[in-house]
Amino acid sequence: MVSKRSMDVRPSGIREIFEMAAEGAINLGLGELDFDPPEEAREALKKACTSGSSKYGPTSGLMELRELIASKEIAHSNSITAKNVLVTGGATEGIMAIYQVLLDPGDEVLVPDPGFVLYAPDATLVGARPIPYALREESDFMPNMSELQELVTPKTKAIVVNSPSNPTGAVISKEVFGGLLDLARDRRMMIISDEVYEDFVYDSKHFTFAGDLDVSIVVSSFSKSLAVPGWRIGYLMANEELLNELSKMQYYLLACPATPIQQAVTAALPYKDKFIARILPIMDARRRRMVSLLNKIPGFSCMLPSGAFYAFPRYDLDMPSRELAEAIARAGVISSPGSAFGLLGERHLRFSYAASEDDISRGIEVVGSVVEHLA
Ligand SMILES: Cc1ncc(COP(=O)(O)O)c(C=O)c1O
Repeated sequence: MVSKRSMDVRPSGIREIFEMAAEGAINLGLGELDFDPPEEAREALKKACTSGSSKYGPTSGLMELRELIASKEIAHSNSITAKNVLVTGGATEGIMAIYQVLLDPGDEVLVPDPGFVLYAPDATLVGARPIPYALREESDFMPNMSELQELVTPKTKAIVVNSPSNPTGAVISKEVFGGLLDLARDRRMMIISDEVYEDFVYDSKHFTFAGDLDVSIVVSSFSKSLAVPGWRIGYLMANEELLNELSKMQYYLLACPATPIQQAVTAALPYKDKFIARILPIMDARRRRMVSLLNKIPGFSCMLPSGAFYAFPRYDLDMPSRELAEAIARAGVISSPGSAFGLLGERHLRFSYAASEDDISRGIEVVGSVVEHLA
């Protein structure tokens, strides 16, 4: 009855723990900001809902929004225009549209391990093979260029890069950025660059692939940057030829992005930088607090992540991360098991610090007592 490809993908390990947790649990599990979206976004959405904008819009998104996005991206490449921008139903739909357009059954796509939960299952869903590439803690979770070279075969069509990374928080260096571009050009494959955390970089610099659309497709989202994950809106940037294919594909996946939501984002986008400037110092303080508390738990060690909003500690208990996350959830704190992000995520937990400092302190205290009890 159910297709093989549907049976071949498991439910997301992040959602499983979230859904088993009791009501009132401290949520350090989901990657969503606890801030309200900017006032301008909320006001614009109210207006869009009352002014009759309930019709289908263009498949690629409203031209006004595409132009606005392109004008902001000009800083990275002066050749980006609205024709390089596709408004999507969030990065989730955008990534599926890219896979549908780039990958044939049997093709290979290199995906980070540990890496975000969509990259490998989405490949399975289009009949392609996800080939994990290792991100090791001892190398600051940076890809190893010679290992990548070895993994490329004639079937490799693309590599997924996610910087700042979910779950590790790592931000790629200039050298890695350049190395990935060289690799993609030499071996004739596309970089699918998931940059949804581009605005959450604390003590390093974000390198975007938006200036290299000859070999890259950039995935962006408003879920994080405007704190609107439930609005389901984001965008892709690609060269014109690919963008037309992606737009054609989007029709079959989504028809078009939601019109009132696009109008609200168009009104709010000019205020994004101000919003980020307000919340980033708060996120930075939370980041430091969470990492310092985690490092006080015996057997836990956690690097200070440079970007995104996750801490990804390693632990030395002899217990799979899923069982540990379940025990912690039973004690009232939601986290994500490292195994949800790939084989190399095992023996790690992922905690989101997009939560109040009070929740972070109380939550990590609970984690400490669960670990003490288990040890
Ligand atoms: C790395 C990464 N990519 C994509 C997404 C999906 O974003 P969206 O809400 O725009 O679908 C997430 C959400 O957490 C993410 O962490």
